[in-house]
Amino acid sequence: MTDLLGGLGQLPKEQRPLVGKSANEIKVALEAALQERQEAIAQDEMSRALSAEGVDVTLPGRRPIVGKYHPTTTTMREIVDIFNLMGFQVYDAPEVETDENNFELLNFPPDHPAREMQDTFFTTSPDVILRTHTSPGQIRAMREFAPQPIRVILPGKCYRNEDVTARHEMMFYQVEGLAIGRNVAFSDLKGVLLNFFNQMYGEGRKIRFRKSYFPFTEPSVEVDVDCILCGAQGCRMCKYSGWLEILGAGMVHPVVLKNGGYDPAEFSGFAFGMGIERQAILKRGIDDIRYFYDNDVRFLERVA
Ligand code: FA5
Repeated sequence: MTDLLGGLGQLPKEQRPLVGKSANEIKVALEAALQERQEAIAQDEMSRALSAEGVDVTLPGRRPIVGKYHPTTTTMREIVDIFNLMGFQVYDAPEVETDENNFELLNFPPDHPAREMQDTFFTTSPDVILRTHTSPGQIRAMREFAPQPIRVILPGKCYRNEDVTARHEMMFYQVEGLAIGRNVAFSDLKGVLLNFFNQMYGEGRKIRFRKSYFPFTEPSVEVDVDCILCGAQGCRMCKYSGWLEILGAGMVHPVVLKNGGYDPAEFSGFAFGMGIERQAILKRGIDDIRYFYDNDVRFLERVA
C-alpha cells in the first residue's frame, strides 16, 4: 500500500484521485481487519487461560507452611526459663574469645595438658580463638559484677575441632551457670541442679555426682540423672547403666575467684556447664546430633 500510494505521482493526472481514494479505502479496511483479528486472538487466549487456571471456589484452602523454632532454640528457652525462676539472669558473652579468658584465667596455664580436653580453633591472631566452652563468660561476668554476689546463666555457641559423630559436633551450644556469694556451698549446687532436672524432665528425679576434673573448679564433678527413657531399668540410651551423663560442675576454684575479682577468703561459688543439644536429644528423642545443623527441613518439621 505504501508503494502504491508513493507511486501515485507517476500516474496520469485524471487517474490519481480515483486510484488514491481506492488505495486509502483498501488501507483502512486492512487495518480494521488486522485489529479485529488481533482482538479476537487476545480474547481467545484469555478465555483459554481462564478455563485452564480456573479457581474452584468450593475447594478447601491450602494451609500455608508455617515455620517453627529450631529444637535448640526451644530447649535453650526451656532451660533459661527454669533458671530464671531460680533467680539466675542471662548474661551474654562473645563466641570469639581471648586465649586468656578461655584458658589462662580459668586456671589452664599455657601448655597445660588439660587444654587437650578441648581441641581449639585458632585464628590468625595469636591470642584470639573461638571459645571452646561457655566458661570464659564466667570471667567476664565476675569482672563486671565483683564484689557483688551473682547468679547468672550464659547460653551460647561453642566450637571444638572435633571428629563429628552422633554425639559430637564442631559447633554446639552450652549453658553455663555461675553463682557467687558469701555462703555458697556444694549443697546449693546440688539443690539447684536437682530442681532443674525435676522441672526439665519431671518430678522425682534422682541425680548422682561422680568425681571429675576441670582446672577451674575444685572439687569438680560430673552429674548424671536417672535415665528418663527407661526409668533407670537400662536401655540403649543409658548404655544399660540406668544413668545419663548430663553436665560438668563444681565449686569455683579460688584462683578463678581471684582472677574474677573476688576474695576467696570471703566469697565462694559454684559453676556448671551443660550441652544444650544433649538436653534436646534426651527430651525430644533425637538419636543423632548431626541432624541439628544439617538444614534438612524434614527434621525441623518433625521435631517439636
Ligand atoms: C566443659 O565444657 C566445662 N566448661 C563444663 C563446666 C562448666 C564444668 C563449669 C565445671 C564448671 P565438657 O567438655 O565436659 O565441660 O562439656 C560440657 C558439655 O558440653 C558436655 O557434657 C556435652 O553435653 C557438651 N559438649 C561438649 N563437647 C561437645 C561437642 N563436641 N558436641 C556437642 N556437645 C558437646
